[in-house]
Amino acid sequence: MKIFLDSADASQIKFWSGQGILDGVTTNPLVLQRDGVTDPERALAELARLAAPGVFHAEVTHAGGQQLIAEARELAALADNVAIKVPVITPEGESCLAEISELTRAGVVVNTTACLTLGQVVLAAKAGARYISVLVGRVDDEGGNGAEVLEKARIWLDRWGYDSELIAASVRGTADVMRSIDAGAHCVTVPPAILAKLADHKFSRHTVREFLDAAAATKAS
Ligand code: G3P
Repeated sequence: MKIFLDSADASQIKFWSGQGILDGVTTNPLVLQRDGVTDPERALAELARLAAPGVFHAEVTHAGGQQLIAEARELAALADNVAIKVPVITPEGESCLAEISELTRAGVVVNTTACLTLGQVVLAAKAGARYISVLVGRVDDEGGNGAEVLEKARIWLDRWGYDSELIAASVRGTADVMRSIDAGAHCVTVPPAILAKLADHKFSRHTVREFLDAAAATKAS
């Protein structure tokens, strides 16, 4: 299973890369805004470099059509490790599957994002998406069950032999990460603060303190 860092914060990417657990980094326009990026083009190239040899996911900012295709090709040319996030639909509900299919056929690695349903996952896989992001937190926000969408999607992909990888995205806490793992997500993308919580445990701290105190007492005796 792959772990991506959902962040545009260079210091966090360096830190978590140094922990040896990252398979890549995901971003979207909200993540760039939240992390204070003011010059996206320059920042994306630098973040792709920091994410290497992992995959770096950059999202298009055009809603559809040839402008989206041209932007996706430009972003893909930033570095060899770039995957392009393309939302499954526009804000008006028009399908972006044609764009996803065209980019895939042109050799661009596409991550179909903003997926909230099994139907969207099925169509994204049919269109050739390499990665499919299921925004589990946003499914849950609307009274749905994000983990159940992931689980059904994984069963469907395996049953029909599609090699698209499911990314559990929009995780709101460590419980979402664990539910996504249980549901069979191929990848989970995690904000830095949640990754830190995943590594931590009050009683692990207590246990390590006991070990260190015992070692110190032994040395002193
Ligand atoms: O990868 C998509 C994810 O970052 C969206 O998260 O919190 O905006 O639902 P959120």
